[in-house]
Order: sequence, then structure tokens, then C-alpha cells
Amino acid sequence: MTTLDAWIDAHRDAHLDELKALLSIPSVSTAVEHAGDVKHAAGWVRDRLAEAGLEARVYETEGHPIVYGEWLGAEGAPTVLIYGHYDVQPADPLELWRNPPFEPTIESTPTGDILVARGATDDKGQFYCHVKGIQAHMATHGALPVNVKVLIEGEEEVGSDNLEPFLREHAEMLSCDAVVVSDTPMHGKGLPSITYGLRGMAALEVTVTGPSHDLHSGLYGGGVRNPLNALAAMIGSLHDDEGRITIDGFYDDVEPLSDDERAAFVALNHDEDAFRAEVGVADSPGEAGYTVYECITSRPTLDVNGMWGGYIQPGFKTVLPSKAHAKISCRLVPHQDPDTIAKKVAAALEAAAPTGVTVEVTLHHGASAVIADRTGFAVQAAMRAQSRVWGVDCVFTRGGGSIPVVASFKNILDADTVLMGLGNEDDRLHSPNEKFGVENYFNGIKSTAYLLEELAAR
Ligand code: BES
Ligand code: MN
Ligand code: MN
Repeated sequence: MTTLDAWIDAHRDAHLDELKALLSIPSVSTAVEHAGDVKHAAGWVRDRLAEAGLEARVYETEGHPIVYGEWLGAEGAPTVLIYGHYDVQPADPLELWRNPPFEPTIESTPTGDILVARGATDDKGQFYCHVKGIQAHMATHGALPVNVKVLIEGEEEVGSDNLEPFLREHAEMLSCDAVVVSDTPMHGKGLPSITYGLRGMAALEVTVTGPSHDLHSGLYGGGVRNPLNALAAMIGSLHDDEGRITIDGFYDDVEPLSDDERAAFVALNHDEDAFRAEVGVADSPGEAGYTVYECITSRPTLDVNGMWGGYIQPGFKTVLPSKAHAKISCRLVPHQDPDTIAKKVAAALEAAAPTGVTVEVTLHHGASAVIADRTGFAVQAAMRAQSRVWGVDCVFTRGGGSIPVVASFKNILDADTVLMGLGNEDDRLHSPNEKFGVENYFNGIKSTAYLLEELAAR
């Protein structure tokens, strides 16, 4: 048992209480009514970074604030930039939570205690491991083995629009030898992994307008095009029966998966039955010719995230609505350009529109996909740190989600990012009853503390 372990184990209650305090702040970045909470969370994180021994400050942006802290006392040692996000997704639908989403609760399960709250694993629990891992060194040694810069933003869940200009403006302050991010899951329970691929994103919103005002569906139905019917058909036309996207040129820039990579995926033993059981479906057809694992990590997709119009309250109203809306996002793979794809989706929707309606599309945030370096010193260090904690070797995985800034770390700071996940696959990110295993939390603190030691061994 090292002094680091002893300190981490001795302060478990405090580690939990602090994370619960952070999880109690409803820092939902997409909701204007929570802007004050987001700001509160930023200040809270700055104060904890300062307590951990970093020089910490908050930078205002045109959107939500960015928190930054640094300790640069390890002369001659590498410099690592640790990135995370303190903003969270909306907690809806609220009625499906076992406890209120911003009242973090510990529950015991057959596989151990879990902490349930919005943001438990995405990303408050995971980035807070780093804060405690840093503090473990400071408290026991009064110094860190490497130079550390910590960047925690408040707009990841809405596309990180203000972070790229921040990176450009503060490129010198943020310069580093590697970036470490804990915002992805481990491959299996007790099986740590380094995620080397992330998908990108193209997001848009479509509005279909028919009659100038809502109509009685008896007086007008059959004679006037219904925008909701039209939108459903338009969206339906975007996929074929084999799960492929029909949009002209959608796959133009997609590189086929290599045989080697597909073989490596097979070796990961992704359990499709367990996957279906976890999400509660009987079948998971995906895109013809690809495994579920490939479909959810390495192939592009198009999904409707929400669709509305007409009457959706309890009860019934026989209305022929004037307008229909949908939010649509595509997950992208390397070489697909978010802007180009968004425009192709918009063009396909316009082309699929029947007569009698007009279509308006607005483009939202985009993000580029990433394939990260797997050979650098920081990747090796992260793998050693995780193996020390979990007692097994790390595997390499690709993740299906997006972290928009990772591409910018490479483009702007010329830094490679290591995605060292600390949570589990079934942590219900973005879903009701999001959780973080208590063991994952304490182990994550150890991994992040060990990581700093391992990085120093370059
Ligand atoms: N932590 C996730 C990203 C993630 C999850 C990567 C699982 C790999 C595996 C992140 O917080 C997230 O949800 N990002 C958004 C970004 C989007 C709003 C641009 C996403 O992927 O939907
Ligand atoms: Mn996240
Ligand atoms: Mn997220």
C-alpha cells in the first residue's frame, strides 16, 4: 500500500460527499433557465481545484464559463492537460428517475454500490476523479510528479462552440505534451480500456409547414397535406430496408473498416445478447453486413432525437397541425465533414418533401470524428495506471459518442489525446437513473493518481 492509496482510502467519505455536492448542482448547459446553476458549478469546480493545490480561475465566454487550473512545478517533467466537462444533459423524463436527478443517492446492487444522479459518470464523476487524484499527490507529497493543466468546460453537451476559440486564444497557456480525458466507458466491468476512436456529429432541426393555421381534421382532413404525416414519410425515406442511409453521397468519404480492425473488434467479445438485454430490445438489426459493435462505434448513423407537432398533451384533439418538427443528428466517422453531411441531410429532406408543404432546416453543432494515437507515452502511461488498479491489461476500443474538442486538441495544440474511461458501459449516460459505481469512483481516483506517476516515467 502506497501513501497515495492510504490517503485515498482514508478520505472516502469526503470524496463521496464532495462529488454529491457537485452532482446536486443542476448544471444543464442546454437549458437557459439553468444558466445560473452552470455558473455556480463553474465556481464550485474552481474552488475545489484551488483546494487540491492548483492555481485556478474561471474564464467567462460568450456561453458558459471555462474553469482552468495549473501546477507547473515539475521542472523537466512532461506537461499533461486534463480535460473534462461540468455541464450535464437535461434529466428528462423526470418521472422515470427512482430519486430526483439532482439529489444524488447511493443504492446497493448485487454488483456493488452505485451513485445515482444526472452527471454521475458523464462527466462529473469521471473528471472529479482527476481532481482527487491530483489532491492525493499534493496532500501526501506536496508536489506533483508532472506538470498539470486542468481544463473543465461547461458546454460539452451542447457542442463546445466557445472552446475552440478559447484554445486558439490561450494556446500557449494550454500547451502540453499530451491530453488526458476521462469521459468514456470502460469496455466491460473490471476491464479497463483506452478508447482510440470517437464518432463526430452533424445536428440539425427541420420544420415542415402545411396550412397557415391548425385545422379541424374532420373539416379539412384528406384535402390538405398533413405536415406530420409528411415529415414522418420524409424521415422514413432516409433509410433503406437494410439499415443503410439513402442520402446522396452520405458514405462518400467513409473509409471501409480494415480486416485487421474488424478482427480486433471480434477479439473484444462484444456480447450482443447482453447488449439487447441491457437496452431492453428483442432485435438489434443495425446496418446490414456489420456487427452491433461496429454499428455503434465505427459506422455513421442518422437518428431522430425528437419529433413533435399537433396535440401531444393527455387526452385527444382532432387537429390537422400547421407545423411539424424534428431534431435529427448523425454520428460521423473519420473523414466525413460535419458541415457537408448536414447540408446533404438538409438537401435530402427538401428533396423528399411532398407538394403542399414547405421545409425549413437549421443546422446545429457539428463535431469531427477522431482516431487517436495508440503509441504515445501518455497512452502507455494510462494503460499501466489502469492495470495497476484493475489487475488486468487494458484493451483498445472505439466509442460511438462524440467529444467535440478532441479534434481541436490535435489541430490547435498539436497534442494527442488519451481517452481513459473510468465508468461502465451500462452507466446510463443521458438516460434516467444515470449512475457511477462507487468502486469505479474510488478506483478512478487511484488510476488518475497513478497516471501522474506513470507519465513522469517517460
Ligand atoms: N461523454 C460523452 C461522449 C461519449 C460517450 C464518448 C460514450 C464515447 C462513449 C459526451 O459527454 C457526450 O455525450 N457528447 C455529446 C456531444 C454532442 C452533444 C456534440 C454526444 O456524443 O452526444
Ligand atoms: Mn461526457
Ligand atoms: Mn454526454
